[in-house]
Amino acid sequence: MAVVASPPAEGLGAWLDQVVAEDSLELLPQLPAESIDTVFWDPPYFLQIPPAKGRRLKRWKVQTEVVGVQDTWDQFGSFAEYDAFIQSNLEELRRVLKPEGTLWVIGTYHNIHRVGRLLQDLGFWILNDVVWVKSNPMPNWLGVRFTNAVETLIWAVREKEAKGYYFDRKLAQAYGGSSTAPSVWYLPICTGKERLKTAEGKKLHSTQKPEALLERVIGISVPPGGVILDPMAGTGTTGAVAKRLGRHFILIEKEPAYVEAARQRIAKVQTDLFTK
Ligand SMILES: C[S@@+](CC[C@H](N)C(=O)[O-])C[C@H]1O[C@@H](n2cnc3c(N)ncnc32)[C@H](O)[C@@H]1O
Repeated sequence: MAVVASPPAEGLGAWLDQVVAEDSLELLPQLPAESIDTVFWDPPYFLQIPPAKGRRLKRWKVQTEVVGVQDTWDQFGSFAEYDAFIQSNLEELRRVLKPEGTLWVIGTYHNIHRVGRLLQDLGFWILNDVVWVKSNPMPNWLGVRFTNAVETLIWAVREKEAKGYYFDRKLAQAYGGSSTAPSVWYLPICTGKERLKTAEGKKLHSTQKPEALLERVIGISVPPGGVILDPMAGTGTTGAVAKRLGRHFILIEKEPAYVEAARQRIAKVQTDLFTK
């Protein structure tokens, strides 16, 4: 697909195409209102997982060990505290989006329903809930319920009445393998060479998303040359794919180790689209 970069939005200046080392609630209020085309938000899940107490979970067949999300950034004192955190961020994300701008938020059954209710209450209009079916999901512990093999991406427009939100229908049809562009995406989780590692060879980040997922999100919903904002960017998946696809990005991440990894990752992406 030929991508022609248009001039970046005015007023975003110093933050454009950067990974900003900051708390989202410190940086978002500094961004101009109605300046962003698309938001991709992968917030903490608030998984509430207790320590494993010596149990070790192995993947079926391959027997590699499963390491879950036990990071401090995923911990909150209560649902009320989590909801307040989500709501404050959503209010700012809504302010910085253009009226026809759209927001993607990804989550699991632990959090996505809470986030969905809050964003509806703030006035976002849900366009779809896209289901990402993982071809290689985490196994469950005890076999007492279904293996959770999906994540949900809510896609919502800021203003219900706003005309002209960006949707590349042909690309959505191509990814969906059908003229109806179905809202179910089958993709593996991020593994192998794509997964960023520490010097010791461990996963750098517990929830790095696959680039193939962001390729769909960005290709379908960010206008060429437009700006995507990821306020909790982790390893910088959104920035790496945006750069490759000729979109501008602003990433925010508060953990210095992830910021550094994301900057290095994005620097390696080759593109001449911004200079055409
Ligand atoms: C689910 S992960 C995002 C993973 C990312 N999509 C990727 O592909 O690597 C959520 C991230 O949000 C960051 N985070 C949590 N609260 C934050 C805040 N208030 N401001 C900025 N970043 C935050 C965490 O450090 C974590 O890296």
